[in-house]
Amino acid sequence: MIIKNAERVGIFGKSGSGKSTRAKQMLHSEQRLVIFDTMGEYGEEGVYQVHSLAQLKQYLAENWRQFKVAYVPPYATRVEALHKLSVMLRGLQQPYINNVPGAQKMTLMVEELNGCFPVSGLTANLMGFADLCGRGRHFGIGLIGISQRFAAVHNDFRANMSESYFFGQDNSADIRTIQGMVGQEVIDKMMSFQPHEFFKRRAGNVEYGKNELW
Ligand SMILES: Nc1ncnc2c1ncn2[C@@H]1O[C@H](COP(=O)(O)OP(=O)(O)OP(=O)(O)O)[C@@H](O)[C@H]1O
Ligand SMILES: [Mg+2]
Repeated sequence: MIIKNAERVGIFGKSGSGKSTRAKQMLHSEQRLVIFDTMGEYGEEGVYQVHSLAQLKQYLAENWRQFKVAYVPPYATRVEALHKLSVMLRGLQQPYINNVPGAQKMTLMVEELNGCFPVSGLTANLMGFADLCGRGRHFGIGLIGISQRFAAVHNDFRANMSESYFFGQDNSADIRTIQGMVGQEVIDKMMSFQPHEFFKRRAGNVEYGKNELW
């Protein structure tokens, strides 16, 4: 598993920069994975696709030891859908929370995080995903969040990232926010990234890398 300890991984970059490619490479090593698949783009190799939380719940019940499932939410109400999914997964992880022997971790991957967990406008009754950002490690739920925009993602995710990937950027507010974290030298390199090139930040350290393409 890429996410060994129920960590929170962020993947950010402009359209076509290589985020989903990176995410798809990560998901190969996951044993228990739910994808919040806003664009319905993960219905491929070994990923089962569902269109409602009821379907998802049934699929998880039947495959609880091992699953790779993409939930395609209703787009217009995706903020509420991510909240409800988060509450549901936390409930299903109750055995892990209670230290029941054999209870396993799981990973939730969220596409278009800026759209479903936005920096502003979230009301207190929609904080299910925020709860996973802050306490997900205790629930055994790792997170992978993907977004074209960095500054447009709610701070509860950004402030809790254990590892982040930054591909090429084109939004000045995002570039300024990233600059504040890593400094100008890294920004200069980032601004000349080709598609699929990224820098990875972990515990304050920066490393450069590239998606493996085939
Ligand atoms: N293995 C590969 N080899 C070469 N090119 C690839 C490979 N996988 C994906 N691509 C191309 O790289 C481009 C960017 O990929 P990707 O879908 O990861 O971008 P993205 O950052 O997720 O974009 P968006 O924000 O629009 O979803 C796509 O045009 C895709 O066709
Ligand atoms: Mg993508």
